[in-house]
Amino acid sequence: MRIFLVLTLLHSTSLGLNVSAQHFTRATNKLSTKFFRHCFVNAENWFICSFSPAVSLSFVLPMSSLFVKGLFLAICVVLALLGLLIFLVLVFFIKYFLYYIKELMSKDQQPPVAGMMLNQLVHFNKLFDYQTSLSRKYRTYRLITPSHSEVYTTDPTNVEYILKVNFPNYVKGEYNYEVMRDLFGEGIFAVDGDKWRHQRKLASYEFSTKVLRDFSTSVFRANAAILVSKISEVASAKQTLNLQDMLMKTTLDSMFKVGFGVDLNTLSGSSEFGNRFTKAFDDSNFIVFWRFVDVFWKVKRFLNIGLEASLKRNIKVIDSFIFELIKIKREQMKIEIFDKGKYDILSRFLLESEKDPENMTDQYLRDITLNFLIAGKDTSANTLTWLFYMLCKHPLVQEKVAQEIREATRAEDNISAVELSAKITEDALEKMQYLHAALTETLRLYPVVPVDGKNAEQDDVLPDGFKIRRGDGVNYVVYSMGRMTYIWGEDAEEFRPERWINNGVFQPESPFKFTAFQAGPRICLGKEFAYRQMKILAAALLFFFKFRLADEKKEAAYRTMFTLHIDNGLHLFAFPRM
Ligand code: HEM
Repeated sequence: MRIFLVLTLLHSTSLGLNVSAQHFTRATNKLSTKFFRHCFVNAENWFICSFSPAVSLSFVLPMSSLFVKGLFLAICVVLALLGLLIFLVLVFFIKYFLYYIKELMSKDQQPPVAGMMLNQLVHFNKLFDYQTSLSRKYRTYRLITPSHSEVYTTDPTNVEYILKVNFPNYVKGEYNYEVMRDLFGEGIFAVDGDKWRHQRKLASYEFSTKVLRDFSTSVFRANAAILVSKISEVASAKQTLNLQDMLMKTTLDSMFKVGFGVDLNTLSGSSEFGNRFTKAFDDSNFIVFWRFVDVFWKVKRFLNIGLEASLKRNIKVIDSFIFELIKIKREQMKIEIFDKGKYDILSRFLLESEKDPENMTDQYLRDITLNFLIAGKDTSANTLTWLFYMLCKHPLVQEKVAQEIREATRAEDNISAVELSAKITEDALEKMQYLHAALTETLRLYPVVPVDGKNAEQDDVLPDGFKIRRGDGVNYVVYSMGRMTYIWGEDAEEFRPERWINNGVFQPESPFKFTAFQAGPRICLGKEFAYRQMKILAAALLFFFKFRLADEKKEAAYRTMFTLHIDNGLHLFAFPRM
């Protein structure tokens, strides 16, 4: 009996292996979609072949061995399913590999093939450096995915073409939308066409008002004073501080107040809820970015396993937080009489939703709100974090910036944090040209959005002569662009704010060369807002403290995701200057 069992098991497995082997041989001979359809039909055969001996055997076995019968059936089913899975994965990889070979040998005038998209998975932890190493070989190259090419360019002429000259052809597109939808929904970062225009128009108006400018400046100053007092406490205890963490909290507070007119503490009730939201938010950012390199993410989402299961849990936390924010805001708007000019961004969208409740549902408002939070929360905090890292690595630059702040504010040594904040006026900010240059130089080397992708709507030809096929991804690699000697000269990789200064005045560069804020019709809406916030915070901190890295030998590393975080934070010592 035992021999019979083993033989039947072997039979089912060998039948499956046989099917795979046959198809492997045929796959290498015949490169046609017909073949792959055939493979899937035979996958069905595999299952039947594996399963049928088990069923027939179960009839042969005597009733007394019911347990053995069940166990045997279960083993056969598991084996058959496992074999089927291996078979399908094998077919997938063979198909992918053959497509890759075909593209590699293609004589079409497309960008050179630098590898498979899977390579990015291997280099995921240092992804932007890997992309930079490829950019040093080819200004424009492509990586092959199972269905299309992802093109990467650092050429400013191409960038201008994609972002401005032929803007309608290079959209976020279905591919990006599908990857981003679960987190970003239909918010401004993920959509094109009318939805994008609608959100852009409303937000552009908001960003252009003087009311928002004055209100945001007062919020940034108040939060800068709070941050100084928190750092003072840590400095007097001679402890290290995680500046990235502190900056993230500060910009999140500012964003809530300016963007949504709500105090974060009012909303979260406890810092625990706020912390859970921030953690869920950061982890989701990482997982959604991971989808770009994980070809199996849809299967995992379907099965609700691994990172996809964790994403689902995180999105639940985020949603409950944002829906609570919308509820609070609605209640606030019912009891307060608004001065028309004083609406924050969320109020403006809520008013719109009253005019058009069918289209502007709570879900759509959730998407809009979350996207503005993504835009405003991490970006300024990340840039400031990298700035302070650079200033610690370049103490002379740190001193030069501190000196400029002292001169621009004309503040005395024994001034309080609140008094100093009040001295950071528009006029003083205008005088901080070197600080502006240091922030810009930081963004050149550590851009918050390290790579930005579009999708080609139609076949096209880039200015460098390379063909683009409809459906291809077209990315400009901001992180790599900052390190290209052909764009910035031999010292491209050096941190040198002076490159932006001429006769003591900051000189901007073409936005197609310095692409940290994107360019063309979708250029960042919050650029001026971000510089103002970053300059106020940096000025307050550098006026009071000198910073040094907790571990001077350690090189900061980024965490690969949409935005460029320092992995495990930035740990510093702060020393009072006076
Ligand atoms: C250092 C700070 C910042 C940097 C480097 C930055 C960079 C960028 C980049 C690269 C994009 C294009 C993203 C894409 O569509 O793929 C973008 C878009 C955008 N940014 Fe910023 N950003 C910063 C701060 C802010 C702030 C503080 C806000 C708002 C409070 C903001 C609001 C927006 C909005 C609304 C868009 C979408 C524009 C559109 O698609 O039309 N940004 N930003």
